[in-house]
Amino acid sequence: MSGDTGTLMKNLLITGGCGFIGTNFIRYLLSPGESGDKPAFTGRIVNVDKLTYAGNPDNLSDIEARHPDRYRFVHADICDVSALEKAFDDFAIDAVCHFAAESHVDRSIVAPDAFVQTNLLGTFNLLELARKYQKRIKWFHHISTDEVFGSLGEQGFFTETTPYDPSSPYSASKAGSDHLVRAYRRTYDLPMTLSNCSNNYGPYQFPEKLIPLMILNALSGEPLPVYGDGKNVRDWLYVEDHCRAIWRIMTAGKFGETYNVGGRCEMQNIDVVEKMCDILERRVPDKKIGSRRKLISFVKDRPGHDRRYAIDCTKIERELNWRPQESFDTGLEKTIDWYLRNSDWVKRVQSGQYRQWMAQQYGER
Ligand code: NAD
Ligand code: DAU
Repeated sequence: MSGDTGTLMKNLLITGGCGFIGTNFIRYLLSPGESGDKPAFTGRIVNVDKLTYAGNPDNLSDIEARHPDRYRFVHADICDVSALEKAFDDFAIDAVCHFAAESHVDRSIVAPDAFVQTNLLGTFNLLELARKYQKRIKWFHHISTDEVFGSLGEQGFFTETTPYDPSSPYSASKAGSDHLVRAYRRTYDLPMTLSNCSNNYGPYQFPEKLIPLMILNALSGEPLPVYGDGKNVRDWLYVEDHCRAIWRIMTAGKFGETYNVGGRCEMQNIDVVEKMCDILERRVPDKKIGSRRKLISFVKDRPGHDRRYAIDCTKIERELNWRPQESFDTGLEKTIDWYLRNSDWVKRVQSGQYRQWMAQQYGER
């Protein structure tokens, strides 16, 4: 099954749709007038999200208002099997795109428990329900990370067959979830695909991650903490390019296959941070703050800090004709624009009012 699956999926369950990539993916699927290469999606989206600190339901409030028949939000934890099962039943779910996860490496070092719960057991629950409703499930796509492969030296790239060698509790929990997904494909013949992507950046990213953290700190003249010597390398991909890749896989990919997704955009952290400093200097000069680069402060390294990630994405390029559309320069300008235009979003996220707002809207879980 491929090509026309976008129109065959009637009720697509998206987990973690109130987080960074999930929000962008839902907006991408439900936005009209996207560039011509987007296969149609004509069904309904059911977004299941626990609303952790990283999940913001008002990321999608305009979508909810514009598409009352095509977008539904369900406040639920993927570790809560009965809530998940109710969503599968109530909405006759026939496809799954699984983003929900604890996603921040530093948090996983301090408090790994939630990572094992959500990333491993939550994924297991979804797989069990996919098995239970196997007759009607047309597609199950699992979103994963390049961090499962561990660290590269100065040479080489991660391919789809690179052995797993995770370094952090986060990447170990994602590695475990990937293994479960593959095992369910082989054992139960479920219609599954998996993707391992490099570092995303763009709108709606929680400002604990490198790029939004540095943008916001540089804007307010706070220190820019660079771990270790700043020479760790990440491969950056604009989030909408990741969304296009996921949808490409879900409409043209082959069941049982894994696809690496990356930007072919390797950068040392220090170069990323300096580039952002220079853009902000040009766009938002501030005499009181002075040189943004002077805010850079080298701090204690992250334990188990992987030195270099680099994705070989030849397979998805060749087999599915996907390529990133943004360069790092254009993507970064768009990202900075977004954070400058959305200071209310930033204030809410930073002030913690989000938690109160979420509790008022949806009750504490
Ligand atoms: P995020 O932290 O911004 O969002 C995670 C979302 O999942 C939030 O809305 C949160 O409320 C929700 N969630 C967490 N635990 C949940 C639970 N138990 N039940 C239901 N919902 C829950 O994460 P992100 O950066 O958008 O990442 C999404 C996925 O993509 C993750 O699986 C991550 O491993 C993967 N990924 C991320 C990147 C990246 O650079 N951000 C790169 C490759 C892969
Ligand atoms: O590679 C994909 C992964 O990218 C995803 O699976 C993760 O969910 C996502 O969080 C991201 O992980 P990283 O650990 O690479 O992202 P982070 O933004 O935390 O850090 C990027 C690099 O910047 C990393 O080498 C650590 C460094 N860093 C990060 C922060 C937050 C700093 O030097 N200073 C900082 O303050």
